[in-house]
Amino acid sequence: MLTTIPRGTKDILPGTVHEWRYLEEKIRRLCTVFGFEEIRTPMFEHTELFLRGIGETTDVVEKEMYTFSDRSGRSITLRPENTASAVRAYLQNKLYADGNITKLFYIGSMFRYDKPQAGRYREFHQFGVEAIGEQNPLIDAEVIKLGASLLNQIGLNDIKLKINSVGCPKCRPVYRKKLQAFFKDKFDELCEDCQSRFNRNPLRILDCKNPHCRELSIGAPAITDSLCDECSEHFAQLQRHLTAIGVEYALDPRLVRGLDYYTKTAFEFKYTPLGAQSAVLGGGRYDGLIEECGGAPTPAVGFATGLERILLALETQHLLPARKNTCDVFIVAMGENATQPAFKLLHQLRDSNIAASMDYAGRSMKSQMKQANKSGAKYTVIIGDDELSKNIASVRNMKDSEQMEIPFDTLIDKLIFEVNK
Ligand code: HAM
Repeated sequence: MLTTIPRGTKDILPGTVHEWRYLEEKIRRLCTVFGFEEIRTPMFEHTELFLRGIGETTDVVEKEMYTFSDRSGRSITLRPENTASAVRAYLQNKLYADGNITKLFYIGSMFRYDKPQAGRYREFHQFGVEAIGEQNPLIDAEVIKLGASLLNQIGLNDIKLKINSVGCPKCRPVYRKKLQAFFKDKFDELCEDCQSRFNRNPLRILDCKNPHCRELSIGAPAITDSLCDECSEHFAQLQRHLTAIGVEYALDPRLVRGLDYYTKTAFEFKYTPLGAQSAVLGGGRYDGLIEECGGAPTPAVGFATGLERILLALETQHLLPARKNTCDVFIVAMGENATQPAFKLLHQLRDSNIAASMDYAGRSMKSQMKQANKSGAKYTVIIGDDELSKNIASVRNMKDSEQMEIPFDTLIDKLIFEVNK
């Protein structure tokens, strides 16, 4: 136990951190380009927020939340997603005050107690965006375009976008009834989960992964045939906007998302080689959530993407960046007399913003040169008794192995010049 992490969690080791940073840098730049600003909310919130926000009949709330009482007996939940928290922060901090649309993005850990497998973890990382305060389908198209641009920029071109409209509280009840009528005769054949969904949330039956339930739902009425005029027009406009900005999509009338807050637009980007975990990015409009959380009726739309899934997709396509060496100068100290001058030089270089390393254990010249090679340093500075007696250092250019002798008093300036060349 002491040396094993909990199931469904992962160490991100120094050998792979550069992959995360690569992705995060792309995300931050793209969000800046699209005018989204970063928000960081706590990793845990009052449980009530997620019960209300996500919906009590969802898998996330029913089966997957990490909920516990803190020492004062308050019910606390590790955030399973960040939309509810973003809405809470929006209301609590009156981010609506200037009357304009509020465009937020976040990157961080989320927690869901789910069965771990490739691409599915109990602690995972999401990048998400939330655009709060605008009902125009232009913003739905903008949010979808942001997702598409990210996947495109990192080279994932095989990803398919599916869109749907899940209606609104006006038209959805009509559709629910139609669905219940469709599944009524098939009820006994549905899986246990779907039987319980039948009354509580029949739309979720369409989303069931059970192959028999999928078969049973063939021929089910499409929600797009039951939309009210407003939802229908919103969906039609969204499609026109997507086409206008060159975003390719396919209509999927079976696409219903796993969280209860969605209204109108729902979408998912899928990367099929990831199998069961093929949903790399998903989102939609949630026009009722802000009111549900105690605010004024406020439309909103957003998405989140699982960074682990994106990295997995990049790995399968050999698109991950190579690890970069970060060391500029490695200092090799030969003999005890050289240790202190080498250590002093190490810190003078660091004070000058040069990435420098040395060996601390007095190892052999051969072993230190090996370390220098492994560090990827551009230059190795060698200091031994011979160099000390002549008041110079031997500096080796690691690229062409050329070696020069540099007087100590000009050494730092010379290295700064060479490294920044
Ligand atoms: P979600 O579909 O539950 O939506 O999650 C979004 C993405 O997070 C998924 O497409 C997937 O890539 C990733 N993900 C979910 N669960 C796991 C897991 N256990 N392990 C690894 N990755 C996972 C939301 O969370 C909504 N808050 C999205 C949203 C934002 N809708 C509107 N605004």
